[in-house]
Amino acid sequence: MFNIYFKIKFGSLIALLIIPTAIPEGGKYQYPWLEQISRQEQLMLGCDNISKMSRSFNTSSLDHILVDHKHKLLYCYVPKVACTNWKRVLMVLTGESNATNLIDIPASLAHSENSSLKLSQLDLPQAQSCLKDYTIFLVARHPFERLLSAYRNKFMDSLPSSKYFQSRYGRHIIRKYRPHATISDIKSGANVTFREFVLYLLKEGAFSNEHWTPIYNLCLPCSLNYTFIGHYETISEDAKTILNMVGAPPITFPVTRYGHTKERLKYYFQQLSIHDIKALYKLYEPDFKLFGYGLEDLLGYDLA
Ligand SMILES: *[C@@H]1O[C@H](CO)[C@@H](O)[C@H](O)[C@H]1NC(C)=O
Ligand SMILES: *[C@@H]1O[C@H](CO)[C@@H](O)[C@H](O)[C@H]1NC(C)=O
Ligand SMILES: *[C@@H]1O[C@H](CO)[C@@H](O)[C@H](O)[C@H]1NC(C)=O
Ligand SMILES: *[C@@H]1O[C@H](CO)[C@@H](O)[C@H](O)[C@H]1NC(C)=O
Ligand SMILES: *[C@@H]1O[C@H](CO)[C@@H](O)[C@H](O)[C@H]1NC(C)=O
Ligand SMILES: *[C@@H]1O[C@H](CO)[C@@H](O)[C@H](O)[C@H]1NC(C)=O
Repeated sequence: MFNIYFKIKFGSLIALLIIPTAIPEGGKYQYPWLEQISRQEQLMLGCDNISKMSRSFNTSSLDHILVDHKHKLLYCYVPKVACTNWKRVLMVLTGESNATNLIDIPASLAHSENSSLKLSQLDLPQAQSCLKDYTIFLVARHPFERLLSAYRNKFMDSLPSSKYFQSRYGRHIIRKYRPHATISDIKSGANVTFREFVLYLLKEGAFSNEHWTPIYNLCLPCSLNYTFIGHYETISEDAKTILNMVGAPPITFPVTRYGHTKERLKYYFQQLSIHDIKALYKLYEPDFKLFGYGLEDLLGYDLA
């Protein structure tokens, strides 16, 4: 099945015609490969349309890619897209953890600086050879859902980590983007509204923190040759497939709750003007285009 991939990579439309008959019959689990092919095609077409100027990369730009030498697997982690669970999986795959139940690995441990080896820690020739030989994947998510999830998690939840975001970003956002902010509002940095957060991004860019930096900039999907594009919406099936591809031991990927996201998205985006939504779309346009997301659900029509 893997040679299918190479055909996809080179954009052969013939692959589209061959694959349906190439899918093995009677297997106990069948992954929807046609969907994966169309994700790859989407990425390729999107990348063709993006300036080729910025395709080069250096080792430090590979700091979101985690390495499992044992299974020849590279994972580009994207915050707010089930990355805690994938980091836990990587820890088990690399032998960094002996947990039999992934949930037993504390999130703080999974996120600790040294829980996994990063590709940026290798020297460039080594990194390049991994990029050439290993299976490399990322998991994408609707850019606005990811953004809203970051906002709610960092500016609304009363977690210890939200305290950091409130003081590091909240104070600045309130001072600059809330008219008539009181000194005590500014001092606390708490209760940044979604609209204030969006105004901040529109004015200052989306690169100040990995939780809202576009996937395009975190994972360099147009510079590296991704072998698999996961989607948050299909994370369990995708995880099964990836783990199967690299011959991993049986690992059950934890179920990710996928609750009232669409309704929630509408609720928050109603607070923005259409002008702001369009500007925000522009900011995340590569993620929308490369990973096949749109705004139909939100607006009733698409901006593209
Ligand atoms: C490529 O960009 C042009 C102009 O920006 C646009 O009209 C076209 O639809 C894009 N094509 C794809 C495949 O995104
Ligand atoms: C690596 O590339 C990034 C983006 O292209 C650039 O900003 C950075 O300065 C480069 N780092 C080094 C050490 O060359
Ligand atoms: C995992 O288990 C093995 C064998 O019991 C032990 O040698 C190793 O130190 C354990 N590793 C971790 C990270 O706990
Ligand atoms: C990571 O850091 C923790 C705490 O400093 C340490 O216990 C653990 O052994 C380290 N793991 C690796 C792989 O270096
Ligand atoms: C933020 O909102 C919470 C809940 O509404 C409230 O208890 C708290 O006092 C607010 N903080 C500030 C600084 O306004
Ligand atoms: C991706 O594939 C192309 C075409 O085979 C190759 O030229 C390029 O070097 C590859 N990029 C990386 C980072 O391996």
